[in-house]
Order: sequence, then structure tokens, then C-alpha cells
Amino acid sequence: MTILVDHADLLGIEAELKKASKNEKEVGFVVPQRNSFGHAFRDYDAESERQKGVMNFYRKNHSYQTYDFVKRLREEYGKVNRVEMSIWECCELLNDVVDESDPDLDEPQLEHLLQTAEAIRRDYPNEDWLHLTGFIHDLGKVLLHPSFGGLPQWAVVGDTFPVGCRFDSSVVHHEYFKENPDYNNCIYNSKYGIYSEKCGLNNVMMSWGHDDYMYLVAKKNNTTLPSAALFIIRYHSFYALHTAGAYKHFMNDEDVENLKWLHIFNKYDLYSKSKVRVDVEKVKPYYLSLIEKYFPTAKLKW
Ligand SMILES: [Fe+2]
Ligand SMILES: [Fe+2]
Repeated sequence: MTILVDHADLLGIEAELKKASKNEKEVGFVVPQRNSFGHAFRDYDAESERQKGVMNFYRKNHSYQTYDFVKRLREEYGKVNRVEMSIWECCELLNDVVDESDPDLDEPQLEHLLQTAEAIRRDYPNEDWLHLTGFIHDLGKVLLHPSFGGLPQWAVVGDTFPVGCRFDSSVVHHEYFKENPDYNNCIYNSKYGIYSEKCGLNNVMMSWGHDDYMYLVAKKNNTTLPSAALFIIRYHSFYALHTAGAYKHFMNDEDVENLKWLHIFNKYDLYSKSKVRVDVEKVKPYYLSLIEKYFPTAKLKW
């Protein structure tokens, strides 16, 4: 595996980070009054340090994910010219990263991926595409890895939301959007913003993170996974849509069909975060065979 470019500098991420830490000092820390995720499985002690971390995370995420920021990162990372590696090599890199936005996840990323995939496989034995989707859905978190320029947590993980239109009040910690320059921009702050009714989610730009990145990687490496799989990968952190039902006015008929599968998938993404151990070596050959079936080349461009 060769890391071709390390260009966080080119992206202006360093400048963004400096700005972030400067603003942090100016804005100070505000404790919101309501629960972060709004569903029981991800509940946690309001007093815990972890929760403070999650809130701090969303304050940055909502402040800095502007339309322009997303467009820049999407263009840059969409080139997939940074590294060539297999999916399994990517899994190994992922074990070095921690998702700070997630209050439930303490186990290594590979465990989470295999637990999700194996739970789906148990209940949907014939949908092998869905097993592979479970296995690869979080691989985009590799953006956190130093060899990818080490993007900050707020640019990789957490719930996602559309940019270029009004931030819906169902988005977790909505109050922090007031710090986002797009919040007061009349081009972006109406219900439809720069989009139109039923334009299709494919035409709506989402906040930048591991979901959209992995979608781009799969797509640009000519995967033969079905449309529902790509939809799941791309929108699995879009809780405002799949849990709160917001932004449905942008969906077209294909989105409506694919959302049914995302609802199924989402149960496993959450509930697999229990401490059921998976024997990696035992299941590895099965997942390698699925990768071979749905990706034309062993080494993917990232
Ligand atoms: Fe994820
Ligand atoms: Fe996940």
C-alpha cells in the first residue's frame, strides 16, 4: 500500500482547524438542555464527559460544515487519487481510529462492521449484497487516519444533513447551526434552498463525512452493488431523514424504494453495538468472497 498524497494543507483543512479552535475560544461552551440523539439505545448519562465531548463535537460540526466546505472536500476526495488498497487493508487501518461522536462504540471498528454484517446475515441470509453493505458501510472513517491527512472528527463522523437548504430542526443539536455562516444566507436558508421538490437525494449535497466518501469510493471503483446498497452507505448517518422523516420533499421514487432498505439496515447498525464477539478469521473468507463478487478489482482507489 502506498500513500500517494498527504494534502490536508491543499484542502485548507489546517486553516479551517485553526479557525475552529480560535472560534471555540470566542464562542465558549454551552450545555444544551435536550438529549442528543432522541432514541433510547444511544442514551447516556447527561453528566458524563463523553456527552460533553459529543456536544462539543456537534458544535464544531454544525458550525463548519458549510456548502462551500462540503463542495471543496467532495471534489478533492472524489478524485480518489490518494492511495490504492484492498477493502481488508482499509479495515486494518480503521482499527487505529476512534469515532468520538458515538457514545456506544468502544470496540474496534472492525468488530462493529462484522457485528453489523453478521447480524444482517443471520436474518437475511439470501441478501448477500446487504451483508457486504454492512461490512463496508463505515470504511470511510479511514478519513480520520493520519495517512489520509487525518481529517478532524467533525468532518468525518456524526449525523449528516443536507447543505444548501434550511437546516431542519430535527437535526441533532440544531441550536449550533446558528454559528454556521449558511444559516443567515438567504440563498441557502429556505426550505428548498438551491434545490427543488423531488429533485432526488442524489442531487442534494450532504454534510461531508465517511458516508458520502465511502459512497464515492464504491461508485468510482465500479462496484456492482445494487442502488439500495449505495443508498445505505451514503445516507446511514442521515438520522433527520430515516428517523425523523425530515427532508422527504427532496426524495424521488427511487429514494422512496431505497429508504425501505435503509430502515432495515439501520436497526442493525445500532443494535450490533452490543458486546457480541465475532471470530474474525472464521468469517473473513466469506466477506472476501463478497468483495470479489461486487468489486471488479482487488485494490480499490481511495
Ligand atoms: Fe457510520
Ligand atoms: Fe456503523
